[in-house]
Amino acid sequence: MAGEQDLMEKIVSLAKRRGFIYPSSEIYGGINGFWDYGPLGVELKRNIKDAWWNDFVRCPPLGPDGRPIQMVGLDCSIIMNPKVWEASGHVVNFNDPRVDCMQCKTRFRADDFWRSELVSVTEVPEVVTDEFLESVATKRGHGPVFLECAGYELQPIVRRELDSKKAKVVTRPWVIAWGVQSGGPPSPRAFVIDGNRYYFVDSDKTVARDGDKCPACGGALTEPRKFNMMFKSHAGAMEDSSSEVYLRPETAQGIFCNYKNVLDTTRIKVPFGIAQIGKAFRNEINPRNFTFRSREFEQMEIEFFCHESQADQWYKWWRDTRYAWYTGLGLKSSKLRLRDHEKEELAHYARACADVEYEFPFGVAELEGIANRTDFDLKAHQTASGRDMTYFDDETKERFLPYVIEPSGGCDRAALAFLCEAYCEDEAPDENGAMQKRTVLKFHPRLAPIKVAIFPLVKKDGMPERAMEIYSALRVNMTAVYDEKGAVGRRYRRQDEAGTPFCLTVDGQTMQDGTVTIRDRDSMKQERIPGDPAALLAYVQEHLRR
Ligand code: GAP
Repeated sequence: MAGEQDLMEKIVSLAKRRGFIYPSSEIYGGINGFWDYGPLGVELKRNIKDAWWNDFVRCPPLGPDGRPIQMVGLDCSIIMNPKVWEASGHVVNFNDPRVDCMQCKTRFRADDFWRSELVSVTEVPEVVTDEFLESVATKRGHGPVFLECAGYELQPIVRRELDSKKAKVVTRPWVIAWGVQSGGPPSPRAFVIDGNRYYFVDSDKTVARDGDKCPACGGALTEPRKFNMMFKSHAGAMEDSSSEVYLRPETAQGIFCNYKNVLDTTRIKVPFGIAQIGKAFRNEINPRNFTFRSREFEQMEIEFFCHESQADQWYKWWRDTRYAWYTGLGLKSSKLRLRDHEKEELAHYARACADVEYEFPFGVAELEGIANRTDFDLKAHQTASGRDMTYFDDETKERFLPYVIEPSGGCDRAALAFLCEAYCEDEAPDENGAMQKRTVLKFHPRLAPIKVAIFPLVKKDGMPERAMEIYSALRVNMTAVYDEKGAVGRRYRRQDEAGTPFCLTVDGQTMQDGTVTIRDRDSMKQERIPGDPAALLAYVQEHLRR
């Protein structure tokens, strides 16, 4: 665990040092949950968004019938009529349980605060004592320890995670869990075991214990309460309830609101999808794990409209296609998973759902959710707006409300996963041939912020001019940098840390026979190739497609 924490620290530090990600408004001490992307970060993120847009909107894949699927894009406003959020259920349901410290006023997400570290469960001894529970709780930092108690059953997801860790499931009446009730008294808000008072915090997920103290100051905590995560603002000059608006917490609702506009203004037919990339805002109680849980982030969402009878087939196709997209861009390792939700986990309107999960250094967490949302959203907007949302199929003469398959991913989480996956430490020889530690970001070439760096070996004998000529030719077609500062080995190292797949060096031989060396980031092998700019462009482009 310490090693993983260490790794995360190294990644965060590299991200800052090399200009991938900075804390927002850092000169004023930063602001929790907000991040800025620096020169390399903005290229990485743009490449992720371009790859997504290209692969799903401009050149979408072949569908289950072997023909390209129909996709179009949208770019909706961030602030929408507040009735959208009433109809979608966000005003009433977009809540997180939270507890407040009555002394220092710090606010905690209740389910984070009391979530057990499953790793601790692997160490459960034969005889579970209070001391053992305390020791695990101390390791976690705060909160009680949990598993199962009589009359309460573990949620399937927890049970599976325990199984995967070969953990023992303890059934002591006083060991409490993330449990769902089975056969006990009907839905209690709170219950008492061994003198401790426990609360159900978030319907069936979390259990909190009375008497827990604030981890920041040791003060008493409030009971868990619901907290709506939408950011509010006002549109117009008046600042009263009539002008209240929300910053969108997801991009999806803009798509649902425009679904009829798209049908009416294009020749598209069901089944088809609408894609959108854009900012979303959530007033997360406890932003954490670098950019993973932020308050401002970007989503890449698709709403795919189809007939109910085809929804299961499209759901499976999207689930597998979206998973394959991540592996195709380099998340090949065993760290990527596709996890189908158990029935008990599904939202009441969803027929199926799966998460693409990645094993970050801080734990396994969701990159994207793919859901069969039925006709829930269109029906909700039809009812609330009074507008007809049905689709008429010319061929079958059937009028129906389409079902929606929604692959919903986060661009920042994808960027973080690609960064974590790319991070690598190995060894490379320095100027004197001595092996030194090397930090390298092995990005997939499509995602690499800079594709090629061009160096003159020395700043004389016409080498800078020739290198600049090559740079000028290549930068029209790809992100390229020119660097003439410092020893060439150091310049390679700088590009390795930025994840640049290729470095071209103009040297003495270039001035004689026109060839240059090309160095591969991963193998560090150098090859001598013709240095004519057009030939170089073709060569690099060809190798970037590998
Ligand atoms: N329209 C469905 C929807 O918004 P979601 O699971 O709440 O579903 C989709 O969000 C994706 O948005 C997540 O899988 C994640 O990648 C990203 N996301 C959600 N909350 C986030 C946050 N606080 N910080 C960064 N990314 C977030």
